[in-house]
Amino acid sequence: MITKTITNLDSFSGTILIPVFETYSKSIVPIVFNELEIASKVFFGKKDTHYLAEKNDNTYIFIGLGKSIDYKSLKTIFRRISSKQKENFSSNLALVIPEQCFEEQIEAMISGLLLGTYNLGHFKSVKVEHPFLNPEFTLNLVTENDYLAAAKKGIKIAKAQLSTYNLVDLPPNIINPKYLANWAKETGEKYGFDVEVLGYEASKIAGLGAFLAVGKGSENEPQFIIMNYTPTTEGKQMKHVGLVGKGITFDTGGLNIKTAGMVHMKCDMAGGGAVFGAMQLIADLQLPVKVTAIVPCAENAVDAKSFLPSDVIHSYSRHSIEIIDTDAEGRLVLADGLSYLIKNFKPEYIVDIATLTGSSVATLGYECGALFTNNEEMSSKLQESGDSIGERLWQLPLWDAYKSDIESDIADVKNYSGKPVAGAISAAKFLEYFTHEHKAWAHLDVAGVAFGDDEFAKSKHATAFGVHLLTKFIENL
Ligand code: BES
Ligand code: MG
Ligand code: ZN
Repeated sequence: MITKTITNLDSFSGTILIPVFETYSKSIVPIVFNELEIASKVFFGKKDTHYLAEKNDNTYIFIGLGKSIDYKSLKTIFRRISSKQKENFSSNLALVIPEQCFEEQIEAMISGLLLGTYNLGHFKSVKVEHPFLNPEFTLNLVTENDYLAAAKKGIKIAKAQLSTYNLVDLPPNIINPKYLANWAKETGEKYGFDVEVLGYEASKIAGLGAFLAVGKGSENEPQFIIMNYTPTTEGKQMKHVGLVGKGITFDTGGLNIKTAGMVHMKCDMAGGGAVFGAMQLIADLQLPVKVTAIVPCAENAVDAKSFLPSDVIHSYSRHSIEIIDTDAEGRLVLADGLSYLIKNFKPEYIVDIATLTGSSVATLGYECGALFTNNEEMSSKLQESGDSIGERLWQLPLWDAYKSDIESDIADVKNYSGKPVAGAISAAKFLEYFTHEHKAWAHLDVAGVAFGDDEFAKSKHATAFGVHLLTKFIENL
């Protein structure tokens, strides 16, 4: 894909996108409308409307943005145009930049255009290639200013989100732990981060007992994936962030088998998927922050070898855990991920992200993720980062009053309170136990927002929630 700037449309031929603010009446739109002999009465720039016109072999698509527009809506409008108008696109595209446009808005528009190339039909016998995926595809920014940096950033963000869409939407007979380990190695090579993978034997030697217990019932060997990104411009006071993502490639519930919703549980590595996408993006943007990321990958399967409710297991931190419910498996792999991260890498800030509880969905629905943290600075930075791009978070409490939920008689802690209340909070309290009093930890429960319904497909699919959010948070530190 080629990205360049042109200052006018004089010798252009191809598809021309013209975003129009409702208030934007004086400049290019009436001029273009006049030239095209379109009565400008037909289009007012109202949000979620567009207008198509053909003239001299060019296709013009006017895109309504309303009076003002937020990042997420702008991105969605452009994704919609790209995905639903693809038969009108040539591989030469001009985007007329509105006069009063911010860099972030250009980033959002271009990310949206690229996300519109995503096709959920991975296994269809007949596929229609999106014109933007043509190697000759050229994006021309029509402007007097230099917006190439913003455009390129928008492309990188979308590429990382597309990676995550693929990882989450592909089925569990393809996306198993080994697939994710290979993906991480290849992506690390390509974008510039180091990857180390502990398989079954290495995890056993390391003592990752909680992680291995979850994977016991599966034919697919668990993989504990460790990624390290070190900026080339190493400064003196470089910040170091640790990320941990839940990488359950399929969650049957284990012997406490799921009676509802199992069909969607390929999404249970979406927290890990967000961490993978964020690593790609952080390295692609060459952010000046050191990042260590861990994604413990395993399949929670039903088998004679599966771990049992009432088993007592030993975690990496040597604390014992009583298994009340094998379906509360995410917190077990995260416990070892967090302990391993803290003991071996000592990052200054830690964020974990996971499709952890149905309770978070019952509490907050599909509009925002649940945020838990012991650190005020992280709370506001995560929320501000999320608000600015439409990946919202809402904070829930971590008070010690909830600690009794995870107190076990037989072991140091238990993995489930056994009560049908405050499930997202007790899961967070369980994770907190394995942060070993680290002073800057945040946990994002994204079960309601990582995988969902929208206008782009008939079935639930990945949203890539967290890819941009984690990256933006790290950028804003
Ligand atoms: N993977 C699920 C949580 C989930 C629910 C993800 C809905 C995506 C959408 C998790 O492992 C789970 O099964 N949680 C249980 C915990 C319970 C047994 C303590 C739950 O939330 O019901
Ligand atoms: Mg489960
Ligand atoms: Zn799960």
